[in-house]
Amino acid sequence: MAEGAAEALLAEAQSIAEHHLLELAARLRREVSGQLGEALQYALGTSGKRIRPALVLASYRAAGGQAAAIARLAVAVEVIHTYSLVHDDLPCMDDDARRRGRPTTHVTFDVATATRVGYLLVPVAVEVLCEAADELRLPGSIRQAVARTLLAASGIRGMVGGQWLDLDAEGRALEAAELTAIHARKTGALIEAACVVGGLAAGASPVLLAGLAGFGREIGLAFQVADDVLDATATTAQLGKTAGRDASLGKSTYVRFLGVDRARAEAIRLADAAVRSLDQAGIVDPALPSLARYIVNRQS
Ligand code: IPE
Ligand code: IPE
Ligand code: MG
Ligand code: MG
Ligand code: MG
Repeated sequence: MAEGAAEALLAEAQSIAEHHLLELAARLRREVSGQLGEALQYALGTSGKRIRPALVLASYRAAGGQAAAIARLAVAVEVIHTYSLVHDDLPCMDDDARRRGRPTTHVTFDVATATRVGYLLVPVAVEVLCEAADELRLPGSIRQAVARTLLAASGIRGMVGGQWLDLDAEGRALEAAELTAIHARKTGALIEAACVVGGLAAGASPVLLAGLAGFGREIGLAFQVADDVLDATATTAQLGKTAGRDASLGKSTYVRFLGVDRARAEAIRLADAAVRSLDQAGIVDPALPSLARYIVNRQS
């Protein structure tokens, strides 16, 4: 598998995200004064792996899309992800002090400010989505499908719902199906949506969209399984966030359920299933399989 394809895409996604997010932060800073403006800039100014934007770009291109304006749609997804991290770290959620190699937003500022940063970023993501749809000149029906896909994945049926269930599951022994459902919702849904909106923006056929959705579903779950493994095996310096936090919070994770080795094997099995979904839809582009390998082999 061409690991290089993933590296090149991630580098591109990183440069796109950094450029657009800084621009967005500067724009927000003009509208939102004082500490809240500074905290918005702080939250948007971090350097993540940018896997979700890379998935948007790769899915768009795998479905034949060529416009550079896809960058803005990729950024809309990353803004939702950024907000989810700010809230995930709050004391009422995972109570984490480090994120992306720096103190978390509520530690640097305060809880009220970080809470506001999070919810302010949700409509900002929708605005970026609208700008992307304009730049890409998407027809009305596609705009609607893109918005529905991203917002549904972010909401109660997806990330927000999954995050609530994740908190609810702390310290409890779960059935396998329950654990899978939590991971699929809290993390898998947005990753699946990244793949689907990329395909939608390229005008993908129903067959291609189904292939991208299947890929996104499997790789989205694999992503969280790999995150659980890294929490248990990597260092805080490698991760840029507090290692071992899941165990100290009594989180329901794949590592707790299966142990490290079987959880690793499960992530690889899911990545293989993700690639099969592309094959079945006749998607031959090498970038998505390469990203799938990266997602389960990464060290941070
Ligand atoms: C972390 O996501 C949160 C999860 C959904 C597990 P990432 O590992 O993509 O975090 P960044 O964006 O690279 O910091
Ligand atoms: C978070 O999962 C999922 C989100 C929606 C942010 P985790 O709680 O495992 O993410 P990390 O490990 O803190 O990044
Ligand atoms: Mg969490
Ligand atoms: Mg967390
Ligand atoms: Mg984690």
